[in-house]
Amino acid sequence: MLALICQMKTAASAKCVQKLHKVWKHFQPVRCLSNMQTNESFLTTPIFYVNAVPHIGHLYSAVVGDAAHRWQCICGAKQAIFSTGTDEHGLKVQQAAEAAKLPPLQFCNEVSQKFKYLFDANDIAYTDYVRTTEDRHNRAVNHIWKKLYDGGYIYQGEYEGWYSTADEAFLSNQQVHDVTVDGGNVQKVSIETGNPVEWTSEKNYMFRLSQMGPQLLEWLHTNPEAVRPSKFYAITKKYIEEGLQDLSVSRQRERLKWGIPVPDDPSQTIYVWLDALVNYLTVGGYPDKQHVWPAIHIVGKDILRFHAIYWPSFLMAAGLQPPASVICHSHWTMNNYKMSKSRGNVVDPLDRTHRYTSDGLRYFLLREGTLHSDGDYNDDRLVNTLNADLGDTLGNLLSRVTAKSINPQQVFPQFHSDLFPWQPSSSSSTVVRALQEDYDLIESVQKLPDTVNMHYRNFEFHKALEAIMTCLRSTNGFVNRHQPWTLAKNPHEKPWLDTTNHVTMETLRVCGILLQPVIPKMADKLLNRLGIGENERTWVYLESFKTYHGKAGGYDGRQLGNSGGILFKKIKQIE
Ligand code: MSP
Repeated sequence: MLALICQMKTAASAKCVQKLHKVWKHFQPVRCLSNMQTNESFLTTPIFYVNAVPHIGHLYSAVVGDAAHRWQCICGAKQAIFSTGTDEHGLKVQQAAEAAKLPPLQFCNEVSQKFKYLFDANDIAYTDYVRTTEDRHNRAVNHIWKKLYDGGYIYQGEYEGWYSTADEAFLSNQQVHDVTVDGGNVQKVSIETGNPVEWTSEKNYMFRLSQMGPQLLEWLHTNPEAVRPSKFYAITKKYIEEGLQDLSVSRQRERLKWGIPVPDDPSQTIYVWLDALVNYLTVGGYPDKQHVWPAIHIVGKDILRFHAIYWPSFLMAAGLQPPASVICHSHWTMNNYKMSKSRGNVVDPLDRTHRYTSDGLRYFLLREGTLHSDGDYNDDRLVNTLNADLGDTLGNLLSRVTAKSINPQQVFPQFHSDLFPWQPSSSSSTVVRALQEDYDLIESVQKLPDTVNMHYRNFEFHKALEAIMTCLRSTNGFVNRHQPWTLAKNPHEKPWLDTTNHVTMETLRVCGILLQPVIPKMADKLLNRLGIGENERTWVYLESFKTYHGKAGGYDGRQLGNSGGILFKKIKQIE
């Protein structure tokens, strides 16, 4: 078995290193998504079909991956790969290119570029953008095919069954049913996706999936995090228990020209899903000896079977480790309907990026999207959420504490321990100004990083964001309680004014660091405004209230950074 190799030498890492090198110098490992022994991590998004332009669901898969990757880097993963890319072979891409009257590669180049543009516009900090039409990928696919063939896992056979081009999937009689379509005609469709199927009968190569059940079950039993969340773990187990049939892994070349030919048999083309899944190995450097493996795969629920059944089977049959984890998310609907071109309710992600900014869109997707159940995309709710959370709660707090009227020196203010003592009993009660609620606030800010870390590691971004917002709302309550604008009018109150502003800024600093994976641009602006250096934004800097604890290294007296304008401009509802 090819072992996990710590050394990552791919050019892929260079981009991540460039972007994040400043903070890496200060990393200290903490328990995170990454491999604890080697401090490396490898996260992937699915690669996207180029038969159509991107929609909001595609962007969601990428944003989930990006936020997780950013958190890994903040937590200390020194070698962090995060890949995305495009899936360019197969019948449906071949047909889409024909319809567009373009040579397939030219068609792929154009659509692949659109995905890349969308991801760049939304700050998806991938370290590798892989395309299945690349030579390095062709080499990886050829290599694994030969391994499977030589190992006896692939044999020549006759395939008879249903094929769904929209899903690029082979289906058994149990997986299809009849529906009546427009005009009263009866059409066979996939029960799972509702996409039409065609009867296929041809000579091709089969993979011995029927033999993989015991190994798959062992993978699941020895690794409770093999498929997450538990709902999808259970579905995976059910797929296996229902019985697995051998899988066709090639198509006749005369039907499918746009794909990688079967090695030593040019009359056949490799099945697009086998081809596509290998992209993850391509990114890891396979088949060269020092490749990075295994990876954590982020996938939508429609492609769970391919990633949690086919993929570990191919890997184990080829003598490679199965995935470290398959993280499965649910889908987005639009105003409670499945997005579809015919209904005309497909949300264009680039249009929404322009309307709401990349941070705005990322925030909404991660605040509302959950792994376990479908989320509904709705522009009104998006605007309300952004205005409430990023405007009224976060932006407002920053404006309040940095306003020249209450902070004329524009510094991170001094904390006065006599007014807010760490141990209240040690100070005379006539001097102490802090109330019990203020102590509760400090305690909640100190607990926040661990809470958020746990939620981010579980890919439960909505829970992490709720915890951060709760903390920020409590801090707005703290400001209301102590009214710095009144304190600022009385020079004798300066020590207490500074102390309360210090507490607010510490909270903002901690929340700013924690929000970086979700709203990278806004978090950068916030931390710049607080005067927090780029090398002070990682896990180790989440220790808060040092002066309060009598420790050195607090931020007291530090000059604030430039205002850089309003943090989040509230959005007017679009009519
Ligand atoms: N090409 C395959 C994946 C191959 S990976 C080896 C594919 N591509 S896709 O473009 O159809 O979908 C890519 C991702 O987008 C999948 O994770 C899919 O679940 C996700 N989404 C597509 N529609 C979606 C929603 N409406 N909502 C959320 N995500 C959805 O499948």
